[in-house]
Formats: sequence, structure tokens, C-alpha cells
Amino acid sequence: MSNVNSGSKFERPIFFLLIAGVGCFVLSLLAMGLAPWTSLNTVIAASQNEGNPYIDGDGKITSVGRGRKIYIREACFHCHSQFVRPVAGEPYRYGPPSKAWESMYDVPQTYGTRRIGPDLSRESGRRSDDWHLAHLYNPRFTTPESVMPSYPWLFEKSGGETKPKEEATDLVAYLQYLGHGYKEQIQNIVYPKTFKVSGFPSGGEIDRERGKELFVQNCIGCHADTGKGNGRAAPFLKPKPANLVDRFISPSEAYAILNRGILGSAMPSFREMPEKDLWALAEYVAFLGNETQTQMKALGNIDQKKGETIFKTSCAVCHGNMGAGDGPAGMALNPRPKDFTRRLFKTSYLKEILQQGVPGSAMPPFPGFSNEDLESLSAYITGLNNKDL
Ligand code: HEC
Ligand code: HEC
Ligand code: HEC
Repeated sequence: MSNVNSGSKFERPIFFLLIAGVGCFVLSLLAMGLAPWTSLNTVIAASQNEGNPYIDGDGKITSVGRGRKIYIREACFHCHSQFVRPVAGEPYRYGPPSKAWESMYDVPQTYGTRRIGPDLSRESGRRSDDWHLAHLYNPRFTTPESVMPSYPWLFEKSGGETKPKEEATDLVAYLQYLGHGYKEQIQNIVYPKTFKVSGFPSGGEIDRERGKELFVQNCIGCHADTGKGNGRAAPFLKPKPANLVDRFISPSEAYAILNRGILGSAMPSFREMPEKDLWALAEYVAFLGNETQTQMKALGNIDQKKGETIFKTSCAVCHGNMGAGDGPAGMALNPRPKDFTRRLFKTSYLKEILQQGVPGSAMPPFPGFSNEDLESLSAYITGLNNKDL
């Protein structure tokens, strides 16, 4: 009787599986281990790599290096990835895809595997330092519906104020380092310099109730539910969140600001929101300033001569001859000087601003003006407003 199994033992299923298994293993080792290992050094050698950012020339750890250690200690990588893939619209959302050299000094690596929060490898320049500090202290301050935990132990109380410890500033230095090679590119995407207002989408009602709801979900941590700018994040921020009640901004200007954010301040861009929602928010912002608009438009006949002289001598270099925020000394500033053709300020609020200046910006204090000067200046600035905007 011939043995059915007497053929080559390699015909047995078990051997077939074994060979296939070992073969696949060897193949993947070659393709995914050995090949990248040999080519990685060439890629890195040809990179824009500027040396190890985590230690300085003397071999001492830098602020960015300490920040990375805190990032690892607090396990931020459980919720944040640091790897922009070139697929699924990720470059549109985050910026240019990650390159090998960027993480060459990251041992252990912090790529992360889950995205409960956004990818952080293109964080450099996306947010201001003060935004990061307020956010780390309590993410609900800047982002009312955030599920990210608070990190209050990175801060200390002194004299009734909450101040960041070195750990917090180190962590922020690290966050601002992530993707620093692309900083300008990212800022140009997040804070576009020019922006065309497209007009309210046709067929839509202007939905102020929706605007209010979105304001509560996105803005009150900074601007407060009253819109007066003293939200819970305010003590962390310079410049302070704008008081939206004592100024009037037209919907189109508010819409542009929501798209652009304000570079140099904590005011984020909300350009990822649907256009209709942005218009609803813009309407609500204009609504908050209703009383200011009424009050300033009803301003009686006040002599503007003095105001004009003051403006031309003290303000125009930054705010521009016609008040459009485009003076020669103002163009390079961040935040930019405010455009008075598109906003109204209550006289009392203007006085307050001139007393204090705007800490965190180039706007200096002007404490010397008399009450009469200020009333005249306020009337002049109000007159610069282009009623059609
Ligand atoms: C439980 C998950 C979780 C953990 C842990 C976590 N985050 Fe977040 N993070 C989020 C979520 C969700 C958001 C989006 C909402 C927001 O902005 O708060 C976010 C947003 C952020 C942003 C804003 C990104 C942007 O530009 O929009 C930064 C920066 C950030 N986190 C840093 C950190 C750091 C640093 C740590 C560790 C100290 C950390 N996160 C830990 C969930 C988390
Ligand atoms: C993280 C804090 C923060 C959040 C959140 C925030 N803002 Fe702001 N906002 C600011 C700061 C700070 C300024 C002042 C910037 C400056 O002075 O240049 C500002 C300025 C503004 C201005 C411009 C005022 C002017 O005269 O130019 C508008 C309009 C505005 N915010 C509306 C909103 C709306 C609407 C939301 C919610 C969708 C929002 N902000 C969310 C911090 C924030
Ligand atoms: C050195 C440049 C400079 C000069 C000079 C200057 N400003 Fe400003 N001003 C700024 C900048 C920058 C801002 C934007 C601050 C900000 O983003 O909150 C600003 C903002 C303002 C604001 C709005 C503040 C707010 O809360 O939004 C008012 C009002 C103002 N300036 C009035 C004046 C007046 C009036 C004068 C002249 C007496 C003057 N400024 C002179 C740079 C200047």
C-alpha cells in the first residue's frame, strides 16, 4: 500500500504555513526595518536639521528639552499625536506632513497613537504663549467645551495672582518648538493677512440665537458671557480679551476677524467653522455692541478740531492718517493697530484705553490728556467710522 503522505513533506499544509509565515516575517523585516534604517541616514543627512534642540553647546538641557520631559511626564501623548500623515486631508488641517529628521532626537519618540486632541507637530506659531498658559491651567478657560485635563500644578499662586512656574513656560517653549521650521507657513494659513468677506450665504436667515449659543460654546472663557472681556482666561492674557460691549464692530468686520484671528494675541481663528455659523457669531458680536452704536451715532456737536490735531500728531503714525490702522509704524506690528473706520468705541472706554494703553501690544498709554481733549478725540475717531461697513 502506498503511503499517501509519502510525497514531499513540503506539500503538507503545516510546512506550507510555516514557510509562508517565515517568508512574510523576513520580507517585512527587510522592507520595514532594514530598508528604512539604511535610507534614513541619507534622508537625515540631507535634512535641514540644525542640531539637537534639547541640549545647548555645553551639553546642558535647554528649556525646550525640559519642556519635552514634562510633556512625557504628564503623558500628553495619550491624547495627542505628533505625526502629520500625507493622507486624509491632514495637511489641510495641520500643515505639511512630518519628515523623518524632525523626530531624530526624540528618544523615546512621542508620535502617539491616539488623537483625542489635535495633532501637535505643527503647533509652532499657531497659538500665542499666553493662550497656551491659560489653556494648560484650565482648558475650559480658552475652549469652554474641552475635555482636556487641567494642569494647575504647573502654576503657583503669588499675591493673589496665578503665575506659571518654570515647568509651564518650558512646556510652552516645547509646544512652540514643535514644527518650528514651518512656523511662518502655519501662521499664514491660520492667520491669513488678507481675507475677502464673501457676504452672508444666500437663503439664510441671520440667526442671532444660534450666534449666542456658539458664543457660549466658544468665546465666553475669554470674553465672558456678558461680552465684556473679563472671562476666566483674562488674567492670563495680554492683550486682554476685547470688551465687545463698549465697542461696536460691524458684522462684516467681525466675520473677517473670526476668519483671521488676531496674530500676536490669544484671539484664535475660527475659520474651520461653517460659514453660516461664523455669520451668526458675527451678527451676535455686532448685537453686543448695539448700545455703543446708538450712543456714539447720537453724539452731539462736539468740536473735533482738538481731537484731529491730537490724532494727527500722536496716533496717525500707527493708526494711519484716515484711521484705517495702516500707519507707517503700524504695518509691522502684531497685533496690528485697530482700524477706526470699522469700529466705534464708547468715549468712557476710549478714556480707559488711553489711560492704560494696551499691555501686550505696541499701544502706549497717553495719560496726559484733559477731559476736553478726550471728548474731542473721541468725537473725531467716531467720525472716522465708515457708516456703510
Ligand atoms: C484626555 C486627553 C488629553 C490629554 C491627556 C491632553 N490633551 Fe491637550 N487637548 C485635548 C483635546 C480634546 C483638545 C482640543 C480642545 C482644546 O483645545 O482644549 C486639546 C488641545 C490641546 C492643544 C491645542 C491645540 C490647538 O492648537 O488647537 C494643545 C497645545 C494641547 N492640547 C496640549 C496638551 C499638553 C501639553 C498636554 C499634556 C500636558 C495635553 N494637551 C494633554 C485632549 C487632551
Ligand atoms: C483664548 C481667548 C479668546 C477666545 C476663545 C476668543 N477670543 Fe476674541 N479676543 C481675544 C483677545 C485676547 C482679543 C483682543 C486682541 C487684541 O487686542 O488685539 C480678542 C478680540 C476679539 C475681537 C476683535 C475686537 C476688535 O476690535 O478688533 C472680536 C470681534 C472677538 N475677539 C470675537 C470673539 C468671538 C466671537 C469668539 C468666539 C467665537 C472669540 N472672540 C473667542 C481672546 C479670545
Ligand atoms: C506705537 C503705535 C501706536 C500709537 C502711537 C497709537 N496706537 Fe492705538 N493701538 C496700537 C496698537 C498696536 C493697537 C492694537 C492693540 C490691540 O490689539 O489690542 C492699538 C489699539 C488702539 C485702540 C483699541 C484698543 C482695543 O481695546 O481694541 C484704541 C482705541 C487706540 N489704539 C487709540 C489710540 C489713540 C487715540 C492714539 C493716539 C492718541 C493711539 N491709539 C496711538 C498702536 C498705537
